[in-house]
Amino acid sequence: MKTKILMVCLGNICRSPLAEGILKSKLDSNTYIVESCGTSNYHIGKRPDKRSIDIAKKHGIDITDQKAAQFNTHHFEAYDFIYAMDNSNYQDIIKLARNAKEKDKVTLILNELHPNSNLDVPDPYYDGEQGFEDVYQMLNKACDLIVTKLEKSS
Ligand code: 4NP
Repeated sequence: MKTKILMVCLGNICRSPLAEGILKSKLDSNTYIVESCGTSNYHIGKRPDKRSIDIAKKHGIDITDQKAAQFNTHHFEAYDFIYAMDNSNYQDIIKLARNAKEKDKVTLILNELHPNSNLDVPDPYYDGEQGFEDVYQMLNKACDLIVTKLEKSS
């Protein structure tokens, strides 16, 4: 069975689509499934924000085919690892968890990079291109560590 990883932000148009694209680009699709969604219903069915598409493209990753979806409790069963982009997303996901096993699947993504620091991937929605580049860089580093961890445990 493939290992399934879910990236979650608020709108599923800026940060988690980038996280999905970056992690996917580093893993073998025969072994891993990476997807993303948002805690809100704001952008269901929409393509990623153009600024996320452009930053991903600049780094050789195509995320144009993604479509925004909303997180729901079925995702706890369907995924092995759930990464929240910020503390607010984390709390919103944890609120929906029905038991300790579901809660244990959820991690703040930057805790992979800075353990126990509970740092947010800043929401770049109201920023310019530099905000998206900064988000790309921090997600890229976190995804490298996720890959190392997944490959160690497989
Ligand atoms: P994301 O960014 O959570 O990284 O996709 C946002 C995109 C849109 C909104 C908020 C955050 N919004 O309020 O519409």
